[in-house]
Amino acid sequence: METLRTILTRSETQGVALGHFNVSDLVLLKAVLAAAAEIEVPVLVGASEGERDFLGTRQLAALVKSLREESGVPIFLNADHTHSLTKAVEAVKAGFDSVVADFSALPFAENVSRTKEAVEALKTINPCVIVEGEIGDIGTGSEIHDTVGNQFRNLTTPEEAQQFVTATGIDVLAPAVGNMHGMLKSMVQGKAKKRLNIERIGEIKKAAGVFLTLHGGSGTDDADFRSAIAAGINIIHINTELRVAWRQSLEESLKRRPNEVVPYKVLPPVLDSVKEVVASRLKLFTGQPTRTEMPLAAS
Ligand code: G3H
Ligand code: ZN
Repeated sequence: METLRTILTRSETQGVALGHFNVSDLVLLKAVLAAAAEIEVPVLVGASEGERDFLGTRQLAALVKSLREESGVPIFLNADHTHSLTKAVEAVKAGFDSVVADFSALPFAENVSRTKEAVEALKTINPCVIVEGEIGDIGTGSEIHDTVGNQFRNLTTPEEAQQFVTATGIDVLAPAVGNMHGMLKSMVQGKAKKRLNIERIGEIKKAAGVFLTLHGGSGTDDADFRSAIAAGINIIHINTELRVAWRQSLEESLKRRPNEVVPYKVLPPVLDSVKEVVASRLKLFTGQPTRTEMPLAAS
């Protein structure tokens, strides 16, 4: 099986991005795997500290390893938004392929020193592990928010990106480029879209010279996604869109089977619905036509 680094390098050459999808239960994990198997592309599964606490860090690593071996799908595992060295070490020891060392809430100098410390410690445990660092404020919570804060206007500058990468030794940088975590109600309803600053992504890529991750992908304009990939984005994180599909389809499935108590009869439509969202995003990120872009069949 190829390494995550090899796949990122090849994706960059091909002008495509790797989809990263957060999971917090087995239904979501199986849905991500099924979509990647169907589209025949590599995929990155992510679990934040909260998601890992619920699933079990070592248990999730064991599940992904076994799914990878059995299916042959290049599925990789990322310890998303990790705010302490202890939790990052725990994930790398459990066999995670990458870690987001997220000290972005701290002042810049402290973010630099904590991220640098994490890079050194994690690579001592596994020299092949990919470490991502973050700068800028893109909010927290892959949930439905009532309002957007002002902080999203403060984009990462090429100068601080370059300084951060040089000082920390990270493999991947997550900048603030108009993205935000979570979705507004209007985005869930499809009435509004997140818009990205494509020019700034290009400038950051040039200055930083490392792989770039776009966090907060849910609800982003499709054309902006494609332009962001062309400008240098290598990994795209999607979480809220999956959670919305999970909840809506679960409610529907329960409503259709008011007396059902068997989980494996209630949950398959939920898996299908999440899989559809993941498949459509994977197609977009890898340049394949999505359903909305397909030419209408001649009648
Ligand atoms: O790390 C997770 C993501 O950045 C997901 O953000 O919930 O807006 O898709 P999202
Ligand atoms: Zn994120």
